[in-house]
Amino acid sequence: MSSQLITLHINGQTRQLRVEDSEALIDTLRERCELTGSHQGCDTAQCGACTVVVDGTAIKSCNRLTLQAAGAAVLTIEGLASEGMPLHLIQQAFSRHHALQCGYCTPGFVMRALAMVNEAVPAEPQAVRHALAGNLCRCTGYEGIVNALCEVLPVLRGAGLMSVQPNDTAQRYASPSVSELAPMGAMEPAASAASFQVKRPATLKRAIEWLAQHPDARPLAGGQSLLPAIRLGLAAPSHLFDLQDINELHELRVDERSHLIIGAMVSHARVATNPRVRAGWPMLAALAGGIADQQVRAAGTLGGSLANHDPAACWPAGVLASGATIITTHREITADAFFTGLFGTALASDELIVSVRFPPAVAGRYLKFEQPASRFALVGVAVVRFAQWVRVAITGLGSGVYRWSKAEALLSERFDSAALKGLTLDPRVASDDLHAPAEYRAHIAGVLLQRAVADLQRD
Ligand SMILES: Cc1cc2nc3c(=O)[nH]c(=O)nc-3n(C[C@H](O)[C@H](O)[C@H](O)COP(=O)(O)OP(=O)(O)OC[C@H]3O[C@@H](n4cnc5c(N)ncnc54)[C@H](O)[C@@H]3O)c2cc1C
Ligand code: FES
Ligand code: FES
Repeated sequence: MSSQLITLHINGQTRQLRVEDSEALIDTLRERCELTGSHQGCDTAQCGACTVVVDGTAIKSCNRLTLQAAGAAVLTIEGLASEGMPLHLIQQAFSRHHALQCGYCTPGFVMRALAMVNEAVPAEPQAVRHALAGNLCRCTGYEGIVNALCEVLPVLRGAGLMSVQPNDTAQRYASPSVSELAPMGAMEPAASAASFQVKRPATLKRAIEWLAQHPDARPLAGGQSLLPAIRLGLAAPSHLFDLQDINELHELRVDERSHLIIGAMVSHARVATNPRVRAGWPMLAALAGGIADQQVRAAGTLGGSLANHDPAACWPAGVLASGATIITTHREITADAFFTGLFGTALASDELIVSVRFPPAVAGRYLKFEQPASRFALVGVAVVRFAQWVRVAITGLGSGVYRWSKAEALLSERFDSAALKGLTLDPRVASDDLHAPAEYRAHIAGVLLQRAVADLQRD
């Protein structure tokens, strides 16, 4: 097992730790540091019990390698109130509103709530429920949790009580010193079945050199798909090259031809909240804001989603309908040529997505019928209207993103939901699986397209 010496600032204490390359942050916290307040529920980024705050952002620590967090400030539930200290205001509100029963999920909810103070989440029930979508509670129900947060969020904002920086944490909340805890019997995390080395290239040149040298290596973006795949034994890379330090991959700008450029490492959360995207490409902002939950949106990236080409992912439909161009380290690829079937793309193994270029459009809409737990698209339809033509792309059909050319021809002639009357999608382009039969998927695609076009007509 390969290991590395790193620095983490945990609850205000700076700590040097030797961790395995394949070690998840939750394991480092619980087993190496004995901070067992962060809980392991699903271990697949669904339940949010393991939520901690890293550099101000709530993330699911079961789905983050410790090496991805090297040098960062990590705040866990233990950093809020240690023994003998008054509970944090969020914890007090949970207690007042009976927002916990067994308490297993509670640290995750509290840490998620802490990060919400910095986000502009309004203190009203619907917004709070939406913001908590990545945290599941199996026994209490959500009413008390939502009420507690509606009460406490304005108080915290007013008092400026959000604390995520190491020094802040130490000043505001006395926390147990990690070095004090260690002698009490901190254990080595159980050896992970996965064995790979992690490196952080500083430049694109270095990243593609390393990829060329190691044919079984994979680039690592947020890890939101790759890490669960490794854990489930669906991927066994020799190396992961973490792209977070490569500046070019983080750009988000409008170029001189009024095209929107989004770097491969730009997170869904950043796209969703960027004022220029919201003003000029509102469909893309809404699509990104509807992916998964805030913890996944903060970590998951445009480049990772496109390279993965999950058949239920949202971005492939938005990118294909937008007629976007994928800019890689080697060339430019049109969206039409990029997606090559189930989990398939035109990328070579040593080729990286650098950014995606979106042309200006008149208007667009993305609607999905989502899986309630993950918010992946059972079916998702993106329709984009340009001056002379219309493009329609569907995700969720089962074998990768699909362009619906008959619908495009009808809508390019007359942009009216009435023009779609009698049009049905051939179920043979869809698949059956445990979630839905092909006929159902094809039907839903037609319904969503009708609704999207009707919406755009009303705008
Ligand atoms: C609970 C949960 C719910 C989700 N719900 C949704 C949803 O509703 N809709 C949706 O669309 N998605 C959803 N996702 C997926 C999420 O959007 C991820 O962002 C996406 O899968 C990619 O993850 P990532 O960016 O972290 O990439 P990684 O997981 O790091 O990488 C994914 C793949 O892309 C490759 N890769 C990464 N970057 C590059 C690059 N620059 N160039 C070439 N290859 C690269 C990696 O090697 C890997 O093969 C969900 C995920 C989770 C865990
Ligand atoms: S343990 Fe469930 S999201 Fe991490
Ligand atoms: S309080 Fe028991 S799972 Fe939420």
